Amino acid sequence: MVNNSLVLQKMRKQKTCFAGFPTPLQPMPRLTEALGGPNLYVKRDDMTDLSFGGNKARKLEFLFADAKNKGADTMISTGAVQSNCACMVASAARRLGMKPVLVLVGPEPAVYDGNLLLDKLLGAEINFLETYGPHLEEYMNKLAKEYSAKGHTPYVVSAGASVPLTVPGYVLALQEVVSQFEALNKTVDYIVCTCGTGGTQAGLVLGTKLLGVDTKVVGASVFASKEDASKNIVEMANGCARLYGADVCVGVDDVVVFDDYIKEGYGVINNDVKDAIKLMAQTEGIFLDPIYTGKAMVMLIDKIKKGYFKKDDNVVFFHTGGLAALCLYRDELSKL
Ligand SMILES: Cc1ncc(COP(=O)(O)O)c(C=O)c1O
Repeated sequence: MVNNSLVLQKMRKQKTCFAGFPTPLQPMPRLTEALGGPNLYVKRDDMTDLSFGGNKARKLEFLFADAKNKGADTMISTGAVQSNCACMVASAARRLGMKPVLVLVGPEPAVYDGNLLLDKLLGAEINFLETYGPHLEEYMNKLAKEYSAKGHTPYVVSAGASVPLTVPGYVLALQEVVSQFEALNKTVDYIVCTCGTGGTQAGLVLGTKLLGVDTKVVGASVFASKEDASKNIVEMANGCARLYGADVCVGVDDVVVFDDYIKEGYGVINNDVKDAIKLMAQTEGIFLDPIYTGKAMVMLIDKIKKGYFKKDDNVVFFHTGGLAALCLYRDELSKL
């Protein structure tokens, strides 16, 4: 077993740096006042230096290091037609001189918009597959074989880039926030984040264990039940701990994730999400997206109203990006 500071050091050495960290930590005094406390801060991971920002940048620094070590020159990635992750993989591939190949699930739209438009501008090879299923993996492997046969070295990225290998991205993000608070002579009581595949939350929770801090991480699931989300987070966090020989273990009791804010379903906007987006924009001038961060903000607002936090707690809202999707909701949002 390796001691915790050596684990963190090893993680820092493992990545390739291309996405411009640290991201800013900003106080949100007007939102704090509007909601009647606690002390709210925002961690601007929407300002990571890749595409239009987002949490995937932290994960991809690890994934691309692995790809480069394996001599890859072609990155094959997948996701929904509007996948933030697929777009960021394509963007990182261009930055590192590799060819981006995407398999997007869903029908090809008549008009390219949002992330799909960015994929196009990045010159990614775009393949559409109508539905999810085992045939997706088969299709990705077939593409990889074709590229290999042409003399390339392809690297296949799983959806969401959420594997134990990429979890250190958010372990180091936790360390970044803790240091930013130390510089202010303060401590972080809570972190609030979105939980999709759970990779982000897995890194943050593992980070609290490795750093030995009391910060509690609270996730808003956007599709999985809280039981499934917790299981994914625990598996990814412990998978990462094993990779690095770390002497820590994350259990389901260490994970706090709520599924009450999924409401009508993944990607479906409702009035609470619209109000949360509007409140953030009109108090702090910061935009949230309807699919991920908007739902996490609904949770934050609800938890404040229900007295979940103490008035003097320092609460950090992790803004994980996703803004390319904002204008896809123009019809719903213009009726605000
Ligand atoms: C903008 C945004 N925020 C949050 C998440 C959730 O992150 P994770 O899958 O690591 O839970 C995603 C995942 O796609 C995302 O695109």
